[in-house]
Amino acid sequence: MDYISLAKENFMSTYSTQDLCVDHAKGVRIFDTDGNCYLDMVAGIAVNALGYDNEKIKERVKEVMDDGFFHVSNLYYNKWAPQAAMRLNKLSGGKEVFFANSGAEANEAALKAARKYGSRTGRSKVISFSHSFHGRTYGAISLTGQEKYHKGFFPMVPSIVYAEYNNLESVRALMDENVCAIILEPVQGEGGIIPSNPDFIKGIRKICDDNDLLLIFDCVQCGLGRTGRNFAFEHYGIKPDIMTLAKAIGCGLPLSATVAFERARGIFTPGDHASTFGGNALSTALSLVLFDELEAGLTDEVAKKGRYFKEGLEKIMAAHPDKCSDVRGLGLMLGLDLKVRPSDVIARCREKGLLVCSAGYTVLRFVPPLVIDFGDIDEALSIIDCVLSEI
Ligand SMILES: Cc1ncc(COP(=O)(O)O)c(C=O)c1O
Repeated sequence: MDYISLAKENFMSTYSTQDLCVDHAKGVRIFDTDGNCYLDMVAGIAVNALGYDNEKIKERVKEVMDDGFFHVSNLYYNKWAPQAAMRLNKLSGGKEVFFANSGAEANEAALKAARKYGSRTGRSKVISFSHSFHGRTYGAISLTGQEKYHKGFFPMVPSIVYAEYNNLESVRALMDENVCAIILEPVQGEGGIIPSNPDFIKGIRKICDDNDLLLIFDCVQCGLGRTGRNFAFEHYGIKPDIMTLAKAIGCGLPLSATVAFERARGIFTPGDHASTFGGNALSTALSLVLFDELEAGLTDEVAKKGRYFKEGLEKIMAAHPDKCSDVRGLGLMLGLDLKVRPSDVIARCREKGLLVCSAGYTVLRFVPPLVIDFGDIDEALSIIDCVLSEI
C-alpha cells in the first residue's frame, strides 16, 4: 500500500512531512517501507530516549496488557500513575504532579496554576521570552515568543508579554505589580538550541523570589537526561516552582507532567483541572522504565557522549568556517548553526542514511536516542562533514 499518498489524501495539511514512511526500528536505526536504513539523530524529536525495540519497554507493555486495561479514568486510581508521580518527585525535588498527554497540555496546566496563584493577590501577567516554544494550544502558543506561530490565529490569550532571552534587564523592564509568573526553557529547543546564561537564569530565580512570582521551567525538550543531567536546571544549581515535562517521559507514548515544587504546592483543588487520558496506566508504567534508567546513571553517559559529539561538531565547524557559525547545546541536545540552508543539509544527510532535523531558521539539531554509542556519533559526524564538503 502507498501509505504516503494515503496520508496526503486524508490528513489535514499541518506538517511538512518528508516522503519517508517508517516500517520498523531497532536501537538507534529506523528502517523505511522502501527498505532504507537510517541512523536516527531525531529520535521522534527528543522523544525516543531509550531507542527502538527496547526489551524493557516491550516487557512493561506486556505486563500492563496482561492486566487487561490501559485506561480507567481519573475517577479511580491505577497502580502505575501513583508510582510514576512518586518517582518523578523523588528525581526532581518536586512535591505534586499533574499528568496529561503532551507538552502543550503540561504548559496549559502550568499557566492555569500560575494564574490561580496570582488570583489570590489580583495578578495575572506572565513573562515569557523571545525564541521560546511552548506548544500549539492557545495558552501554549500565547506563551510562545515567536510571531510566526501567532500569525493568523489572533487574538492570543491576554496578559502574556515577552522579554529577550538571556537579557535580565529586558525582564526587569517588564516587571510590574501585575506579574504572577515567568516561564522559560532552561535550554531553548525549537528556537535554535540556546542554553540560558548562568547569570541570566539565576537572576530570574532571584526576581521570582523577591517578588513572589512562580518560576516555570519548560523542560519538555531539555528534561529527563537529555542535557546530561536529569533536568537542565541542575546545570545552574537552581530549582523552579513548576516544571513541565513531556516528550521522553512516556517512552514513545503520549504522557506529560506538570510538577509543582514547594511554592506551587496545593494551588489546584478538585475541579480546577483535568484530562481524560492523563496518567493512564500504560503511559505511566512506561515512564517508570525511563526513571529506572535515569537512576541507574544514564545521564552520566549522556554527558560523556554529549561532550564527545560537541567536540566533533566543533571540529566540523573549524573545517567548514564558510558554512557553520556556531555549535551550541548541552549533553545530547546540540545545535550546529549553519550559514547554508538547513533543509539542504538535512536532505543530503538523509540520502546518506542519517536523519537530522532543524531548529529555528538556521540550526541543524541533534537530539538522538540517549542510548546512542560513540561509534554511531562518529558515523553521524562523518556524514555531516561529507555533506558540508559537497554543498
Ligand atoms: C520546550 C517545548 N515545550 C513544549 C512543546 C510542545 O510539546 P507537544 O508537541 O508535546 O505539545 C515542545 C515541543 O517541541 C517543546 O520543545
